[in-house]
Amino acid sequence: MAIAQVQVFAQASELFLGAAAAFTDTCLAAVAARGRCRVALAGGSTPRGLFRVLAQEARLPWGAVDWYWGDERQVPPEHPDSNYRMARETLFAFAPVAPERIHPMAGADPDAAAAALRYEAELRWAFPEPWPRFDLVLLGLGTDGHTASLFPGSPALAERERLVLAPWVEKLGQHRLTLTLPVFNQAASIMFLVSGADKAPMVAQVLDGGPPVPAQLIRPVAGELRWFLDAAAAGA
Ligand code: 6PG
Repeated sequence: MAIAQVQVFAQASELFLGAAAAFTDTCLAAVAARGRCRVALAGGSTPRGLFRVLAQEARLPWGAVDWYWGDERQVPPEHPDSNYRMARETLFAFAPVAPERIHPMAGADPDAAAAALRYEAELRWAFPEPWPRFDLVLLGLGTDGHTASLFPGSPALAERERLVLAPWVEKLGQHRLTLTLPVFNQAASIMFLVSGADKAPMVAQVLDGGPPVPAQLIRPVAGELRWFLDAAAAGA
């Protein structure tokens, strides 16, 4: 299992610049080695700052990157809570990305289980190997220790066969679509991006091996695990 590398930046603005450079370098290395880079994006609000910087990254091999999601809310793509909408507004609207390289989850489908099965079928088509191995996975961290839409106590945490599930999230009163732990842990590179003092206790709990939470279950079997934090999230 990879040992987590942790980088701390004084300010959020510097965090996003540093994470964008690492993101770009990882994509360039994947394209050099495998001719393509397949990314699974995080949602929520923190990635906004990263995506705005990435959109200006001239070094990013845009024509060789395919954009997937690690999770999605059960809302239409134009809904303010949509992770796809957030990426469209902050990244794809300003970058040379062909529509066929953008692979959103079907948050609008009222049948979340069916949407999960469809996304799973899309991944199995795109990744012929037994387990999809994303070149890069971007993850965030909730104050409760969730990551993607793998929440504490969720049955989805025990899944070892499916690639995509649609767990009911009681605290949100909605279904979510999420990749499963085996998929995340197959990734070649995983980047956690965490900003803000409110996350500091959970960051410490995860990195110091405190009481188990979903984010601690992100352990790439043959890949790198990196945490990008601002000083506030690092409790500095
Ligand atoms: C989501 C995300 C989720 C997010 C954390 C942190 O769909 O909400 O995938 O896992 O990364 O909740 O969210 P913030 O960046 O908004 O704090």
